[in-house]
Amino acid sequence: MGSWVRSGVLASAVACAALASAIASAQDAPAKGDPARGKVLSYTCLGCHGIPNYKNAFPVYSVPKLEGQHPEYLVTALQAYKSGERSHSTMHLQASTLSDQDMADIAAFFAREPLQPTGNTGGGNVPEAAQTCVACHGTDGVGITPMYPTLSGQHADYLVRALLDYKRGGRKNPVMAGFAAPLTDAQIREIAEYYSRQQPGLDTLEYKEANAFAVASR
Ligand code: HEC
Ligand code: HEC
Repeated sequence: MGSWVRSGVLASAVACAALASAIASAQDAPAKGDPARGKVLSYTCLGCHGIPNYKNAFPVYSVPKLEGQHPEYLVTALQAYKSGERSHSTMHLQASTLSDQDMADIAAFFAREPLQPTGNTGGGNVPEAAQTCVACHGTDGVGITPMYPTLSGQHADYLVRALLDYKRGGRKNPVMAGFAAPLTDAQIREIAEYYSRQQPGLDTLEYKEANAFAVASR
């Protein structure tokens, strides 16, 4: 594709830009989700993701916040649990039952209004060890493309867990494995705390139904 673009003598910068955006929208096409259908499908999910500060049982860490996340990233994450690229037995079981359309609908419901970049640093300095991260996750933790997850306001203990998983192979994403590998435990904690402090941040959708479900399943 690149060489075809380069060899087009008549291709002006404008035509190239139009082509690039046509390709980008063709790739994005399947991710159109219906939040109303997603809400119905999310009933079980809310038993964990709809309760603020709900914890994964073992090891203990917070269930991630999904509200304000990029819906495209949420779909990628669900596919990674389904395929086993991310190893987590509950999320594998949950994602295995979902079709691509189900995932897009659920993602649209959970994401609601995805956070937009502000470029802020929450009044503090970006930690030294996070200097490489900001290229994709921003100084404010808002992923600069829909495929880069937003980290702002996310639970620090979940961010630590995710980074350790990339480092040790529980998550096999090759890009993040490379960035997590050189980080020490202290740097991981420092980065996680920095991003979790950023506001506006991700949130937990709360629903009466979710609490009813949690009580019923005790
Ligand atoms: C029993 C509790 C539980 C239930 C039920 C559950 N989840 Fe999860 N979910 C988790 C935990 C814990 C994680 C973090 C897993 C890890 O460490 O990778 C997670 C991770 C995720 C992520 C990744 C978020 C990110 O930032 O990468 C998504 C998306 C997600 N869940 C969506 C769902 C959906 C959709 C459902 C329902 C179909 C669901 N979950 C049901 C506990 C749960
Ligand atoms: C080239 C872009 C890029 C850079 C640079 C980058 N990341 Fe990522 N990051 C990603 C992508 C893409 C994912 C999603 C990977 C997946 O599907 O599991 C991700 C996922 C994550 C997650 C998991 C989020 C979640 O909700 O589960 C954390 C935490 C994270 N990155 C932190 C970092 C840190 C810390 C650095 C710097 C040391 C960094 N990233 C550098 C692209 C990047």
